[in-house]
Amino acid sequence: MANEPDVVRIKREKREQQVDPAPASLTRRRFLTFLGAGSAALAAGSAGTSTGTPTNGVEGGVAVGKIPEAQAAQSSGGAGLSFTPIEPTGEDDVVLPEGFKYDVLRKWGDDVAGDDAPYGYNNDFVAYFPIDALDGGQNSQDGILWVNHEYPDPKWVSEYQDGDKTPEQIDQEKASVGGSIFRVRRQGDTWEFVEDDQYNRRIDATTPMDLTGPAAGSEEMEGADEAIGTLANCGGGITPWNTVLTCEENFQDYYGESSGADESRYRWLDDSDNTQPPEHYGWIVEVDPFDPESKPRKHTWLGRLRHENAAVRLSDRGRVVVYTGHDQEDQCIYKFVSSGTFDPNDREANSDLLTDGMLYVANFASGRWNALDYENNSIFGDNGFASQADILVRAFEAAALTEGEEPENRVGTPLDRCEDIEVASDGTVYAALTNNEKHGNFYGQILRISESGNDPEAEEFTFEVFAAGGPQSGFASPDNLHFDPDGNLWIITDISSGKLNKGIYETFQNNGAFVLPTGGGRDVYQFASGPVESELTGPFFTPDGSTLFLAIQHPGEETKDTNDPTSTWPDGDIPRPAVIAITGFA
Ligand code: FEO
Ligand code: CA
Ligand code: CA
Repeated sequence: MANEPDVVRIKREKREQQVDPAPASLTRRRFLTFLGAGSAALAAGSAGTSTGTPTNGVEGGVAVGKIPEAQAAQSSGGAGLSFTPIEPTGEDDVVLPEGFKYDVLRKWGDDVAGDDAPYGYNNDFVAYFPIDALDGGQNSQDGILWVNHEYPDPKWVSEYQDGDKTPEQIDQEKASVGGSIFRVRRQGDTWEFVEDDQYNRRIDATTPMDLTGPAAGSEEMEGADEAIGTLANCGGGITPWNTVLTCEENFQDYYGESSGADESRYRWLDDSDNTQPPEHYGWIVEVDPFDPESKPRKHTWLGRLRHENAAVRLSDRGRVVVYTGHDQEDQCIYKFVSSGTFDPNDREANSDLLTDGMLYVANFASGRWNALDYENNSIFGDNGFASQADILVRAFEAAALTEGEEPENRVGTPLDRCEDIEVASDGTVYAALTNNEKHGNFYGQILRISESGNDPEAEEFTFEVFAAGGPQSGFASPDNLHFDPDGNLWIITDISSGKLNKGIYETFQNNGAFVLPTGGGRDVYQFASGPVESELTGPFFTPDGSTLFLAIQHPGEETKDTNDPTSTWPDGDIPRPAVIAITGFA
């Protein structure tokens, strides 16, 4: 329209898009990119409207595509966030906005702690601990990195093709899962791995660990108070006392789901002399990165299920609350509440907080957290559960019990594959439900849960759908979530490798990392795109917000012929999962 001012035109176009959405490839993301590239005037114009909360990049309902630095700087925490969004792309690289770069810190097969302890496969959750964290420091240039290794890709890790798997191949795969701990340091603009550091070590499927809580020593665990190894390490969390919680997700792929299993995806049961009880897996494991001699602990009070993650919040009374999701179609969200309380001056005692408490499961029809409490709820005993230990070992079976047809009578509500959960600084809880084809939910959504009275110990809650995936929002299949120090929500997508760039997922191209600024609008801005068939996992910022760590998982996952891989990231030969440090944040 003639003489229509830019701001008016943008608002009109935005309205028209909402009324009559055009194909995704032509709409929001290009629109935002255009605005991002030319938004300086809008950004400057909106800078005076900040209310002190993290900026939402929205002025009068118009997405500006760039988060105004002047506003971001007013928010608490770290540096301001400002970038020009990227376009979706199929490029075989980590694609970032102009002004940002990445360093590969470790990739599959690199040294971590000597020749016998190389960096594992398929890295996932990442946590950065400032080297001075135990003294309350926030060093953002020198720290310890924890990285999960979720699962092996046998064609690379053990060069397995078909038939029985040999004990040697199984050993190679056992060494490729678990976690890596190592020192990292920033020199100028570059992050580097610190060789031979005292903290460097590997934890894998052969590392002895203690069991705590009701299932330790129980009949269901064959009387064991120790388990051998951790595996399927997907998401995780950190505790206020600076330990890692690493989550065992698809544990059934290794030794089966429960005793008596005779097949597993990775064929570890082929070596029948060297198997472990399946009940020893599916737990949340606590690791102390600051004590290289410490034994990891599997805390059975947090339940045995396909744990995606662990998100921790302290209640006003000092109790520790851990939110965790079960990543499978029609499974639930849980929370653990400790009996004891946090003491900032007693780190050793704090680690015992996860050894005693109660596990709850969310019923979204009633807005209640139902306790998986053997003593005080007869539904469990009436349905064949023998003890509290039995409930915890079979937590997802206990959550599926119901006393009637109505959804509020079920112990826990089945959901659309809960991936990551994060707690915002205001105490609200964000949960990514990635998709559920059984329900026709192909793009997923993010729930926001508000505890009654903003008390994480509460037994009641309300919830809303905070953001929905799809062409209208620009992201699909949300998986990992993270809040940066400014409170912006980072959403990372995991469209499965076999579906990327095809059909209803075509316009999204490769999986990416998106930012949803808090404080108002629900628009997302794409920050990164991953290599071919990869998923960007483990988002974690340094305390000052100057570095973002990401783990690039399963690049080239659909490769059929190892001589002709579908991705050659990062070195141009074969695909290798790797953890990177991204710099360029203000
Ligand atoms: Fe390992 Fe649910 O992602
Ligand atoms: Ca995940
Ligand atoms: Ca997360």
